[in-house]
Amino acid sequence: MENNKTFTMIKPDAVRNGHIGGILDQILKGGFKISAMKYTYLTPEKAGEFYEVHKERPFYKDLVGFMSSGPIVAAILEKDNAVADFRTLIGATDPSKAEVGTIRQLFAESIEANAVHGSDSDENAAIEGSFFFSAFEKF
Ligand code: TYD
Repeated sequence: MENNKTFTMIKPDAVRNGHIGGILDQILKGGFKISAMKYTYLTPEKAGEFYEVHKERPFYKDLVGFMSSGPIVAAILEKDNAVADFRTLIGATDPSKAEVGTIRQLFAESIEANAVHGSDSDENAAIEGSFFFSAFEKF
């Protein structure tokens, strides 16, 4: 499996708070190339499907409500070692525990409204990218 792609979303909190530009700036400065990108939204059904792995977790219902609460930016990013390097760039799930200078430390509100998604494996990066983009939309 290729290891040079990851999938990200700029989540509704960050879009609402005017951080699309700031986050894209950090992504590009981090050495990632954008291979696909769209400004879109998740319906509650689609958000539920995207986060299905978490459906037994106590935070699932709120997470689905939050992720469908407004527009998002979805993107496929390219760089060597993309999944691991992007998770380093975004920082810990809980922004209060994220390293200084990471995207979540800079832009997130809370553990739920944590500004960005980053895939956790090459396999999930491919699945998540295909959730939003058809083959002809991926450069
Ligand atoms: P997870 O996959 O554990 O984190 P990450 O996004 O860093 O890979 O969780 C997915 C999302 O679920 C997370 O970004 C925010 C939300 N979430 C909560 O709302 N509460 C929680 O306690 C956890 C662990 C996650």
